[in-house]
Amino acid sequence: MGSNIINLSDNAEFNKAVGELRQINTGIIRHYYIYTFGCQMNVHDSEILSGILSECGFHPSPKAENADVILINTCCIRDHAEQKTLGLLGTLKELKAQNPSLVIGIIGCMTQQLDFAKKIKAKFPYVDIILGTNCADKLPAAVLNAYTVEDSKKRRTLYHDDNDSSIIENAPVKRSRSVTSWLNIMYGCNNFCTYCIVPYVRGRERSRSPEAILREVKELAENGTKEITLLGQNVNSYGKELDYSFARLIREINKVDGIERIRFMTSHPKDISDELISAFGECEKLCEHLHLPLQSGSDKILKDMNRKYDFAKYSEITKKLRQTQPAIEISTDIIVGFPGETDDDFKRTLDAVEEMRFSFAFMFAYSPRNGTKAAAMENQIPNALKKERLNTLIAKQNEISAQISSEYIGKTVEILSEGRVSDEDEDAVDKTKQMGRTRTNKKVYFVGDDDTSGKILHAKINNSVSVTLGGEIV
Ligand code: 5AD
Ligand code: SF4
Repeated sequence: MGSNIINLSDNAEFNKAVGELRQINTGIIRHYYIYTFGCQMNVHDSEILSGILSECGFHPSPKAENADVILINTCCIRDHAEQKTLGLLGTLKELKAQNPSLVIGIIGCMTQQLDFAKKIKAKFPYVDIILGTNCADKLPAAVLNAYTVEDSKKRRTLYHDDNDSSIIENAPVKRSRSVTSWLNIMYGCNNFCTYCIVPYVRGRERSRSPEAILREVKELAENGTKEITLLGQNVNSYGKELDYSFARLIREINKVDGIERIRFMTSHPKDISDELISAFGECEKLCEHLHLPLQSGSDKILKDMNRKYDFAKYSEITKKLRQTQPAIEISTDIIVGFPGETDDDFKRTLDAVEEMRFSFAFMFAYSPRNGTKAAAMENQIPNALKKERLNTLIAKQNEISAQISSEYIGKTVEILSEGRVSDEDEDAVDKTKQMGRTRTNKKVYFVGDDDTSGKILHAKINNSVSVTLGGEIV
């Protein structure tokens, strides 16, 4: 199936709405604020939403309270994310009561579930815009409608994308950072891991053309980007429908002047090719870090999760990677309390964590998602037991992460400086410091007078806290 390319630069409907909004905003300073939940893909989608609103003549606001347009870019991967959005909607109701002309929009993965979108429309009359994933092209028309239509019912827009093969190209992007940039290379997922809602809300796998990606990489390099993170739900299957491999794309990006570092996420172990493993040896810009979700150490659970590999296969991949690139650090995602997980299955996960020595892990209690296979499985694990297992796993992994970090003490490592720490950096205890990342993706905090943002520096590591390091520039 071919992709449906929506090219925003020559999309008449999009440009008309953008033009009309610019007109309405002429001479008036109106602001927008975007709440973002979820993964890097969502963070980058919010950069596109910001770019579009900026094109429409809106200015970013540091606070939701001062904004004229508020968007919530939602996540539905676990119940927790959904609850946060629902809680936030309650707070926004008060803002709308104070300022009836405020435009509120809810966008993304949660609203791509049609049942949920309809529920929002029925139960939250103060939400003006409801857009699913892949609908950024409809945002200007929806905002325009909310501004100009008097009838309170008609001013509300619900747009849900049934065509799950769209690719939006040439969207304006307002990146929050310039030294390190995210770049989507593909969308969607075909894997249907039995616990996961993503294939239902992000549609089928489709890859952007290598030409479009390389053009964007070059533009970013010209604008000061030093590090690119290639994004997709399963980047290893990039290019399948184009007869173009992910490893080849990396080799091409490796040639782009100005780009110093390449990263990517997320990878599925079943699709890691030998060609990609070799790229870790060949491409000097490809960083020595791989995020490779294991999910469970038990073969029975992996089978029930429909992951299509067993622990032996996972372990073999990591061995090959470490042979090709001995400095590589591997991080992972793990779910505990998947339906049917016995004490023995859980112990296998603990043993796997011990054996793999992950530099870092995102660890989750299984959260049933409506419409997925696992949610309908009978042997669900009680919440208390999930929590207990999660705490046990976190304690073990934290010990390993801290050990790996402490092994850096006394060493001098290359870092790419991202300059002064941002307010959002929760790992930064001292906000006067600067931060750079090692090629293995560890944050290093250091003292510096001038802003060193964008510079490749060398830091001597003299302390470590959990997964972060502290050092001095040498
Ligand atoms: N419950 C808990 N964790 C989940 N993940 C995906 N779906 C679920 C779920 N239903 C985790 C997986 C995935 C990461 C992005 O989120 O570990 O790799
Ligand atoms: Fe979800 Fe599995 Fe696809 Fe990852 S590979 S997005 S876990 S279905």
